[in-house]
Amino acid sequence: MVELLFGNCSLADVDANGSLRFVQDGLIHIQDGRIAFAGRRGERADLTRRLELHDLESRLVTPGLVDCHTHLIYAGDRLGDYLAARDPLDPELHRFQSGGILATVAATNNASRESLVALARGRLAQMADHGVTTVEIKSGYGLSLEGERRLLTIARELSGYQGIEVVTSFLGAHALPEVFASDPSGYIALLVGEVMPALAAEGLIDMVDCFVDPEGFSPQVIAPYLVRAKELGLPIRAHVDQFGAIGGGELATSFGARSIDHLEHLSKAAIGGAHTAGTVAVLLPFASLHKGFPTHPPVTELRAARVPMAVATDLNPGTSPTSSLLLAAYLAVTLYGLRPVEAFAGVTRHGARALGLLDRGTLDQGSRADLVAWEVAHPYELVASIFDQRPRRLVP
Ligand code: NIG
Ligand code: FE
Repeated sequence: MVELLFGNCSLADVDANGSLRFVQDGLIHIQDGRIAFAGRRGERADLTRRLELHDLESRLVTPGLVDCHTHLIYAGDRLGDYLAARDPLDPELHRFQSGGILATVAATNNASRESLVALARGRLAQMADHGVTTVEIKSGYGLSLEGERRLLTIARELSGYQGIEVVTSFLGAHALPEVFASDPSGYIALLVGEVMPALAAEGLIDMVDCFVDPEGFSPQVIAPYLVRAKELGLPIRAHVDQFGAIGGGELATSFGARSIDHLEHLSKAAIGGAHTAGTVAVLLPFASLHKGFPTHPPVTELRAARVPMAVATDLNPGTSPTSSLLLAAYLAVTLYGLRPVEAFAGVTRHGARALGLLDRGTLDQGSRADLVAWEVAHPYELVASIFDQRPRRLVP
């Protein structure tokens, strides 16, 4: 058995009631990669007598951060889309790529596997540097059996890189490929009949995701996709109610979605649905900021309904070209009015819950020892300041 003991540190996580647990003079005992004890040093003199103590020099230990919503594997950028919205007459505009999700689909499908892997590794390395230990990666820039398979295979192979565990979401229903431009149901039928079952059989899909929105697919068109996911035993999550309210939140929660994400136009009925289904609300404030949305998710109502809220980067070239999870947490506080303790839970406990992972995101006994140690005195410094510090990973 491999045992490790860390001390001269404080400890912070969030409990099941959403309250901060903050322990000064803490001690952490790890056995075979799991937390055997995390608490006050004074409670376990037996451990300090028996094991060599690694001195953390007054650092703050937290669970490794969980980024539960990313589109991390893509090529190109979409600066052109951003500039066109900000300064459409700028003569420099023509130099930049634009064209929405389909432009990224083209750039990604045209990129070599090696270049996609290199780009993705660079982004994961930045995340690891900032204390992230679990990342969800979506497909959705392939939009064909081969294209989606390539992205999910790369995502699987990246798991473990820089000590980050990767979980995958199949996002075939992200945008409508040009060949199906007038036939959204035909495209969904292809995903349902061929693509989703094939990739599921290959073990590439941990969850199924979709974009139910005025800018994406309608609830009527997407319903068979969710039925198929259920038949295949795959957990469902959905991008909903980002650009407008067309019933995406209601539909996804009626299917027992594990998470609903974005939520700028989430309805009261969908909040009730999330409460009933135990759905996590995933907030993506960088996407709101980058698009300049005036409307924000109904955080007060979600809180009142006791719907757990996670926070993620949404890393993607179109609406959120960033890998900074703690800045997303800061934005959730500043822009959306999340309480700092909620933002901290959002990138730890609730980020993990949005992925169905109950073995991480807290310092509970038995949790994975995905631990990071920060040079801060209080955990709120992580989520309530513009923060760019590199923590130390305790167990690689
Ligand atoms: O999560 N909402 C749809 N999809 C992405 C954007 C992807 C893109 O623009 O390339 C999102 O914001
Ligand atoms: Fe997204």
